[in-house]
Amino acid sequence: MTLESELPETATVITATGDEWWRSAVIYQIYPRSFADSDGNGIGDLPGITERLPALAELGVDAIWFSPFFTSPQKDAGYDVSDYCDVDPLFGTLADFDVLLETAHGLGLKVIADMVPNHTSDQHEWFKAALAAPEGSPERDRYMFREGKGPNGDIAPNNWESVFGGSMWERVTRPDGTPGQWYLHIFDKSQPDLNWENPWVREQFFGILRFWLDRGVDGFRVDVAHGMIKEAGLPDYTPPVEGASMGGVTSDDTALIPGIADLTPDPPYWGQPGVHEIWRGWHGVLAEYPGDRVLAAEAWLDTLEKTALWVRPDEFSQAFNFAYMFTDWKAKKLRAVIQESIDAFSGVGAPSTWVLSNHDVVRHASRLALPKDAPPQGAGIGPKTPGKPDTALGLRRARAATSLMLALPGSSYLYQGEELGLPEDMELPDSARQDPTWFRTKGEKYGRDGCRVPIPWEADKPAYGFSTTGKSWLPQPVNWAPYARDSQDGVPGSTLELYKSALKLRSAHGLGTGSLEWVGDYGNKVVAFRNGDITVITNLGKVAVELPVGDIVLASEEIVGGALPADTTVWLRA
Ligand code: GLC
Repeated sequence: MTLESELPETATVITATGDEWWRSAVIYQIYPRSFADSDGNGIGDLPGITERLPALAELGVDAIWFSPFFTSPQKDAGYDVSDYCDVDPLFGTLADFDVLLETAHGLGLKVIADMVPNHTSDQHEWFKAALAAPEGSPERDRYMFREGKGPNGDIAPNNWESVFGGSMWERVTRPDGTPGQWYLHIFDKSQPDLNWENPWVREQFFGILRFWLDRGVDGFRVDVAHGMIKEAGLPDYTPPVEGASMGGVTSDDTALIPGIADLTPDPPYWGQPGVHEIWRGWHGVLAEYPGDRVLAAEAWLDTLEKTALWVRPDEFSQAFNFAYMFTDWKAKKLRAVIQESIDAFSGVGAPSTWVLSNHDVVRHASRLALPKDAPPQGAGIGPKTPGKPDTALGLRRARAATSLMLALPGSSYLYQGEELGLPEDMELPDSARQDPTWFRTKGEKYGRDGCRVPIPWEADKPAYGFSTTGKSWLPQPVNWAPYARDSQDGVPGSTLELYKSALKLRSAHGLGTGSLEWVGDYGNKVVAFRNGDITVITNLGKVAVELPVGDIVLASEEIVGGALPADTTVWLRA
């Protein structure tokens, strides 16, 4: 099959094989501050998570990945770490973490921590020491300090723009009050970038990895793994399109590569070749430990071929498939991105991953029904965004999309709340917003708060059971009772039950370790494939499609009269 062809020929796509658990795992992302709050302060915490773990075991996932819970001033919700070897008091203690880990393992769940090596918090001891030390000192060399341009050094060293808006440079003041050097921060100014060319920095992180591996974590998701090395000389760069700074993902229909979301070429601070040596070192550290520990890359790169280089056998185990995440709801593009993903990753012996939502993007129950002129990824959506997504259509497509995804061979990532069908919260008041994107763009971009609202557990409880007091760090919408877990538990046809059934069947039929054989019988608005004894058919068109004879084992919507309605997925056993 070529990417341009209208329909796939019937062809088997060979997937990479191996025995490691992560190759086929379904990994559930917990965003700690929004999952479950045990002490009633409105911010989720580790004991809250521990109490709710049985619900995840019951859901049927294999592993959990936590967004960071390390000590942090919380300027970027914990992605600004001031101590990598402790738990922030907001979330609990190291002892709470140990209980959580033991409980998770007791329930058969693997635990993946989120390592943030590209930058620290400006409150980290290393950065404080760097500020206190003279220019040119070893302490300064742990970060990216540079002289400014112009006669007084008051022009930033280059024109790079922060992912969160504004310049990527901040000037410091010397102890005598005079203006000094500038430091680089790809994200907020409270998140100075480390200098990964410096062996001292590399050494520190080996120790940090071992600290958590010794405690028993099953691996790491690595934050901004594509940003650690910058092009030599730090040359100026002008992004070709709006949104390029976050990896350039847009939902533009005119994709550069058919089937693959529009990703712009890598800027001088993303995806530089020097990163690979770092990952080989990390791979080596994980290999010192028994069991199969996983390293998962958050790497926003412009092609799947490049992403595949990150998952060569001695680097990461897997990388998030953002090209898949941002593929438009179009059959031709979806087939192409699936084919290209499996080809690219199995070419280096890695499984493909699949993902539709996380804490940085508009929830897929809203994203899949956004109007065409919606703002690009990273900008977020809110009360003043023109054209609201149709909630019912979004949920219907999300259910179909997830049902398709969970039948694909490889590893799938779920984001907390998607199993409840949660939409993006578009009505958050400006006064509640906390994402640095909102502040750094002076309200021009809403940012990511809309997908981070604490999730609903019990319809009739304060804060829908998220906290005991009803407090919630972001206000929850008034109409979320029907999404609450207890409103859906055991209710046939609910999104929660759909996820549970899909996960159970995926495991029973070995779909995660299977392979994919395209089925081209249903017209060009349909994605259809066989994985083992299951045939998956998704109708992305407007017209119902006649179904073949077979047992329907899973359906994302009710099937009446043997026809597959629009925006619906079925799994058949023929
Ligand atoms: C990653 C995280 C995001 C965070 C950023 C800076 O992209 O997923 O939430 O803001 O890195 O650490």
